[in-house]
Amino acid sequence: MAATLVTNIKQLVGVRKENKLLRGRELSELNSIENAFLVIEDGMIASFGEMKDLQSSTRSIQNSIDASGQFVLPCWCDSHTHLVFAASREEEFIDKLKGMSYAEIAAKGGGILNSAKKLNAASEDELFNAAWKRLEEVSRLGTGAIEIKSGYGLSVEGELKMLRVIKKLKERSDLSIKATFLGAHTYPLEYKDDHQGYIDCIIHEMLPVIDKEKLADYIDVFCEKGFFSVEETEIICKAGMSYDLRPKIHANQLSMSGGVMVGASLNALSVDHLELMSDAAIKTLAHSDTIGTLLPTSAFFFRTQYPPARELINYDCAIALASDYNPGSSPSGNMNLVVAISCIQMKMLPEEVINAATINGAYAMELEKQTGSITIGKRADIIFTKQIPSLAYLPYSFGTNLIDKVMINGKLC
Ligand code: NIG
Ligand code: FE
Repeated sequence: MAATLVTNIKQLVGVRKENKLLRGRELSELNSIENAFLVIEDGMIASFGEMKDLQSSTRSIQNSIDASGQFVLPCWCDSHTHLVFAASREEEFIDKLKGMSYAEIAAKGGGILNSAKKLNAASEDELFNAAWKRLEEVSRLGTGAIEIKSGYGLSVEGELKMLRVIKKLKERSDLSIKATFLGAHTYPLEYKDDHQGYIDCIIHEMLPVIDKEKLADYIDVFCEKGFFSVEETEIICKAGMSYDLRPKIHANQLSMSGGVMVGASLNALSVDHLELMSDAAIKTLAHSDTIGTLLPTSAFFFRTQYPPARELINYDCAIALASDYNPGSSPSGNMNLVVAISCIQMKMLPEEVINAATINGAYAMELEKQTGSITIGKRADIIFTKQIPSLAYLPYSFGTNLIDKVMINGKLC
C-alpha cells in the first residue's frame, strides 16, 4: 500500500470524528491538533494525531513530507460555480464602471445572453480546454471539490453541450465535481415573450435527454425579478425533481425574489446568493434543511450589499460559502479571497469561514462522506499553507497566496 506520512504539522485543522452540517453557533467549532502527523494511504486519510503518538514502525511509508511551521486543512469545497464559459466579459465591466446597471447591460444583449451567444458558437473541445485550465487554476488555489452549472447554452444543443463538457471534466479530473442544470438562467431572446414556450422546451426537450445521459445531479433556476418568477421556479424545479434532480436555487440576489421560500418548500439542497433577506426569509431558511450559500465575491464585484451572514448565523441557519466563478458577476474562483472577504465584509470569524467553505460546502454538494474535513476514510484533499503565524492570518492577509501545495485525492497537484 502506498503511504505518505506528513510530519511536524504546526496545526492540523478541520479534524472531525463525525460528519455534521453546521448551523448557527456550531459554525465556530473548528477542531485542530497542534504539532500533528497525518498518514495518507491510497488517496485516503488513514490516520492522524499528535507527533508524540506517531508509531513509525507500523506503516510502510513511501513518501514523507515535513510540514514544519505549516498549517494543513481540508481543501475548499466550492459548491456554486459557472466555470464552463466561452469568453470573459470585461467590456461589460468597463460599461459598469462608467455607470451602466446590470439590467441596462442585459437589455442591450449583454450579460447572460452575451455569454450564451459566445458559448453556442464555441466547440465542445474549446469549452473543455478553457474549463480545464480554470479547474487547474482553482485546484492550485486549494479547491478540491466543485459544483459546475450549465446555463450559458439556453438552447437544447447549447445546454447539452455544456453538460457534456462538465461530464468530461468529471471523468478526467481528480477533483470531485457535481453538475447542475441551469437551463432556466434567463429567457433566450426568441422566447422573450413566450415564457411558457421556453419552460416547455426545458421540461420536454432538455430534461429527458439530461436524464437519459445522466448529465446532471441538480437543477437550478435564477429566481429573480425580470428572470424567473416564483411560480415558474416551482414548475421547473418540480420537473427536475421528477428526474431526481434536487434543486439548488439562485435566490434573493437582486431583490427579495421569494426564492428562499420556494426553495425551502421544495426541500432544495441550497438557496444561493441571499444578498437581500427579509426576517421571514431568514426564519424560513433557519427552520428548513436547506443550506444558505453565500457568494461574497459576487456582491463585491457588483458593489451590492453583502448577505447578512451574522443574522443568518444568529438565527441558526446552516451556511456555506462559494465563489460563483462566472464571467458576469464573479470572474474569480479563488476561495481564499471568498473566505477573506467573508471575514472582512460580513464579519464572519476565521473558524466560521473555514467550516462554511469546507464541510458545509461539501454538504451543499452531498459530498460530505468523501471530503470537507480531516476524517479517517475521507479522500486526502488537503491544503498545505506556507509558514504562517496563525490560522487567522489566512483571511487577514487577503490577496497574498499563502498556499504552499495542494493534495487532491492523495496526489500533489
Ligand atoms: O450567479 N445570477 C445569475 N447568474 C450569475 C451571473 C451570471 C452572469 O452574469 O453571467 C450569478 O451571479
Ligand atoms: Fe451563480
